[in-house]
Amino acid sequence: MNAAITRVGVVGGGQMGAGIAEVCARAGLDTVVCEVNAAAARTARDRVAGSLDRAVRRGKLEQTKADDALARLLFTSSLDDLADRQLVVEAVIENPDAKTEVFAALDKIVDDPAAVLATNTSSLPIMRLGMATARADRVVGLHFFNPVPVLPLVEVVTSLHTSVETTAVVEEFATRVLGKTVIRSQDRAGFVVNALLIPYLLSAIRMAESGFATATDIDTGMELGCAHPMGPLRLADLIGLDTVASIAESLYDEFREPLYAPPPLLQRMVQAGLLGRKTGRGFHTYD
Ligand code: CAA
Repeated sequence: MNAAITRVGVVGGGQMGAGIAEVCARAGLDTVVCEVNAAAARTARDRVAGSLDRAVRRGKLEQTKADDALARLLFTSSLDDLADRQLVVEAVIENPDAKTEVFAALDKIVDDPAAVLATNTSSLPIMRLGMATARADRVVGLHFFNPVPVLPLVEVVTSLHTSVETTAVVEEFATRVLGKTVIRSQDRAGFVVNALLIPYLLSAIRMAESGFATATDIDTGMELGCAHPMGPLRLADLIGLDTVASIAESLYDEFREPLYAPPPLLQRMVQAGLLGRKTGRGFHTYD
């Protein structure tokens, strides 16, 4: 039986990893974030500190609670610092080789045989990551949504090997400890949300690509016509166009349906380094 989870690790301090680390620290957990080098670890810390400041400015968090959360976080560039963790959430780039490598390394480093190794992948098979370890029964998908401190959903994704106990541990963690709402999905590319969301985003990209309407009009249409908080192209920019393209490729690989095929404009924008908000330009421009 697992002890209550109090020591968490997050691998990757990008927008998803930083967000996951922030919600863990805000929930009172001792949280270690591992990045590839010291500079990336500092950037991850700045990302979390910036988001905590924003929560304080928005009146969602008291300053003392933000200070306490930051004090519970350790930023490192050594995976060995995750040895004593009870739960590790992998949130590195959406690339199968990169993620497989992290799981193989974690399997050797994380001491507690009962520890859970979770992935925040949006679309890659949980089975493939589980099979990179000698504990596939403890490997599970724990998929958060961006911005993590704001959006209340977590998808829990089980592979054919994930144990019932592992599923129960992460569901309890996501709901009771983090205060999120859980939905369950089988291990199929895109799970529930991205299997529905990505074809919609790709349709909007094809619409812009064909000159059917401008990016601004497509977004305004869905924001004001359907009350979406942001239109599809602004949302693609928020997710990151490289991530959208990677998820589309995983979906296309799995299902071979044209609706999942990444359109040429998306591929060209990724090749051009126009990745959306994180690079200052995608379908829109950002300060
Ligand atoms: N901590 C806590 N709360 C915060 C916060 C933080 N760091 N930053 C903002 N908030 C709160 C604000 O206080 C505000 O709350 P109220 O409405 O109660 O006042 C709310 O979040 C919205 O914040 P803002 O007013 O600053 O910003 P906004 O109104 O422009 O909304 C947005 C921004 C939250 C991003 C909103 O546009 C939105 O929800 N967009 C859709 C995002 C979405 O669909 N994400 C899913 C992407 S798919 C994904 O992530 C999965 C994948 O695998 C690709």
